[in-house]
Parts: sequence; C-alpha cells; structure tokens
Amino acid sequence: MNFRVVLGITGASGQVYGLRTLQVLREIGAEVHLIVSRTAKTTMKVEGIELKEVERMASKVYDEKDLGASVSSGSFYHNGMIIAPCSMKTASSIAYGITNNLISRAADVTLKEGRKLILLVRETPLHSGHLRTLLTLSEMGAVVMPPVPAFYTRPKSVEDIVEYTVLRALAMLGGEIEKIVREKLEEWKGLE
Ligand SMILES: Cc1cc2nc3c(=O)[nH]c(=O)nc-3n(C[C@H](O)[C@H](O)[C@H](O)COP(=O)(O)O)c2cc1C
Repeated sequence: MNFRVVLGITGASGQVYGLRTLQVLREIGAEVHLIVSRTAKTTMKVEGIELKEVERMASKVYDEKDLGASVSSGSFYHNGMIIAPCSMKTASSIAYGITNNLISRAADVTLKEGRKLILLVRETPLHSGHLRTLLTLSEMGAVVMPPVPAFYTRPKSVEDIVEYTVLRALAMLGGEIEKIVREKLEEWKGLE
C-alpha cells in the first residue's frame, strides 16, 4: 500500500478544491477514500462540477449516512483526512463531537487517533461563534486552513490560485506526502 487519505467534500462553496485535491492525491499514487455530503452534491451542480467525474477518480466512495464504513473506525489506518471545502456546519459538528454522518465521524476518529485533519473551512464573514468553533478545532489538533489565496506567487488564473492552496493543504499531511508535494511548490527565497 502506498498512501491512504480520507477526503470529505461538504456543501460549502469551492467544490473545485475537493476536485483538485482528489486529482493531486491520485497523481501522487494515493488511495483516496471519498465521502461527498448530500449538500456538496447540490453545490457541485451550482458550481458546474460533475459528481460522476469526482467519484470516478476515488479509490472508494462512501455514502455520508454509512456510519458502519471502514473509515469510521480507528482500526482503519490512513495518512490523514482532508475536508475540502469544509462548511461551517461540518466544522461545528466536528468541534462539538456531533458525529452523525460519516464525514464528521471519520474526522472525529482521525483526531482521536492523533492523525492529521486538514479543514479548508470556507465561510465569510465569520461571526464570533464561527471563530470560537475554529479555535476549538485548532485546540483539538485540527489544521484550520481557510482557502485564502496568496498573491505574492503572482497567480495568472483561478486554477493557479486553487493549485497553490491545494498543494499547501496536502503538504500539511506531513511525512512522505509532504516531501512529494513540496517538490511541486516553489519555496520563497526571500526578498532580492
Ligand atoms: C451554493 C451553496 C453555497 C454554499 N456555500 C457555503 C459556504 O461557503 N460555507 C458554508 O459554511 N456553507 C455554505 N453553504 C451551506 C451549506 O451547504 C449548508 O450549511 C449545509 O448544511 C452543509 O452541510 P454539509 O457540511 O453536511 O455539507 C452553501 C450552500 C449552497 C447550496
């Protein structure tokens, strides 16, 4: 087995982040265990992303209601979980232990097993309840990583912006995955 990553795609805007995360993971030879929430399927339609195309790339696809799936158990080993994009609803469920669907359950298990959980939380503006939730997640060990673009990289397209965020998020998984992904990322060399 090479790498194994659990990918959750939830109903926030930015479905392209989920799609590109899946593509890069497959490019680097990772086994991807995919869970797409019911609302993500609606948001995909709105944002012009084909659910079938996304699911076709995954190694295994789970229904969000399938709480008996392998990824809901800590005995299922993986190299980490990413939720891209992550809605505030799913972020809140994870923060407060409401594990009533497979995405929040798999995320909860990822944290309890001391593995990496990367959350591309997408909402703006944020009220103080959102901010408290994100602090709670950070204190629990999750990497809270809103997909906020950088411009010092001089992106020329939306694809460039998405690519940079996705690669930075994948690098947060650490270990061998980080090494491979960092080769695709240009390092900041400092000011001339
Ligand atoms: C087109 C569309 C865009 C949305 N964008 C966001 C968003 O950016 N952030 C967010 O937290 N929720 C957003 N939502 C609302 C979530 O989809 C909603 O809260 C849903 O209950 C999330 O459920 P899930 O986390 O199980 O996917 C959006 C919904 C739709 C239909």
